[in-house]
Amino acid sequence: MTTAKLSYDGKEYTLPVIEGSEGERGLDISRLRSDSGLITLDPAYGNTGSCKSAITFIDGDRGILRYRGYPIDQVAERARFTEVCFLLIYGRRPTLDELRAFRDKMTRHTLIHEDMKKFFQGYPPGAHPMAVMAAMFASLQTFYPDEHDLDLDIVRILAKSKTLAAFSYKKSIGQPFIYPKNDLSWPANFLRMMFAVPAEEYEVPKVVEDALNLLLILHADHEQNCSTSTMRMVGSSEANIFASLSAAICALWGARHGGANEEVITMLEGIQAAGLSTKDFIESVKKGERKLMGFGHRVYKNFDPRAKLLKTAADRIFDQLGVHDPALDLAKQLEEAALSDEYFVKRKLYPNVDFYSGIIYRAMGIPTSMFTVMFVLGRIPGWIAHWLEQRTEEGGYRIHRPRQIYVGETEREFEDRGTKVL
Ligand code: ACO
Repeated sequence: MTTAKLSYDGKEYTLPVIEGSEGERGLDISRLRSDSGLITLDPAYGNTGSCKSAITFIDGDRGILRYRGYPIDQVAERARFTEVCFLLIYGRRPTLDELRAFRDKMTRHTLIHEDMKKFFQGYPPGAHPMAVMAAMFASLQTFYPDEHDLDLDIVRILAKSKTLAAFSYKKSIGQPFIYPKNDLSWPANFLRMMFAVPAEEYEVPKVVEDALNLLLILHADHEQNCSTSTMRMVGSSEANIFASLSAAICALWGARHGGANEEVITMLEGIQAAGLSTKDFIESVKKGERKLMGFGHRVYKNFDPRAKLLKTAADRIFDQLGVHDPALDLAKQLEEAALSDEYFVKRKLYPNVDFYSGIIYRAMGIPTSMFTVMFVLGRIPGWIAHWLEQRTEEGGYRIHRPRQIYVGETEREFEDRGTKVL
């Protein structure tokens, strides 16, 4: 076994070096504290491996992303979302029979319990759909509390997520809920529940269905990001899969994570409304007055392969839909300006998945407030895969419990001021 040596306070400690299948190496420090009294300090976990995982491989320096070993561009071109769900969760491609059966089950579990529909009525107008989604996922557990068939719960989650998302949108605009149709694919079923009204027929445009399929696949997993780590963190306490998902949804909501796709559109609209030039906007970013949303990534220091695929897809989708959105032109100008500017080059800031996704969602008719919900729909199989991987870890799993370096007051007396009676 390869080892590394650490010397501290006159003593030497041997740390095993763990090597992954792609040659990634990490120091195993799990015994460091008991051997030496030292912990490691790594705020925001920028250099901390929290687990071994066989689901997704990212090489941020070379712009590589693979699901279960398969390059993302091949998966995106050759698979439907349903197969990707199976691949990520169960670790292998399904046989054709398995895929048909999985797809069939996923379709048949799309309806939610009728009582759940009442929950939507309790929210005020304008409630953010991410809040509704987080609450609905935690609430799903109350309908399926037994935990006796995890595979069935997984199917339920994947199937009902689109219904919950579409219903939260319908509620927000005051339209009646549209029930799922079993002869439609996962993306088409969702789009119909989003956009159909009872008064007329609705046919899902193929170009929109395919665009959604692509977006879902590109968002399906991204190893130990903030929301996935939350899923694992909450799951490590033995919280059920619905509760863990609800927590992951909340983690994704923030503007530094999944919420960035919404922020990108807000930023582009803001630039247009203020009549700012690309140059002026980039200068204000460089002065630290704002961020270029949809840019930068903790892991990708070259390019985000998902952003590349989405940029190409955006041109194709806009062309097929016959629409022209000046926001797409503006985004391209910003990208070009940033990529040739020393500020962004030096910090290795490239467009991430959120830079072009929002513009495509908008062309598909998805409202801005639903963008992060769309991210949720894509990321659910990844979250489930990680939760399951942790649960089935060889040798069992431990509750996640980071340590800290305490920098507060040292011991002092809590004087009795007679406040106990107040
Ligand atoms: N615009 C301008 N400057 C930026 C940006 C940006 N979008 N992102 C990072 N920087 C700068 C930082 O100010 C910092 O500069 P400094 O060294 O002079 O202080 C440097 O680049 C390094 O950035 P960090 O914030 O340290 O990078 P970190 O890895 O902590 O953050 C993050 C990554 C959160 C993605 C960040 O780049 C960001 O906030 N981007 C905008 C939000 C966004 O698009 N989020 C989506 C990420 S992808 C996803 O979650 C799906």
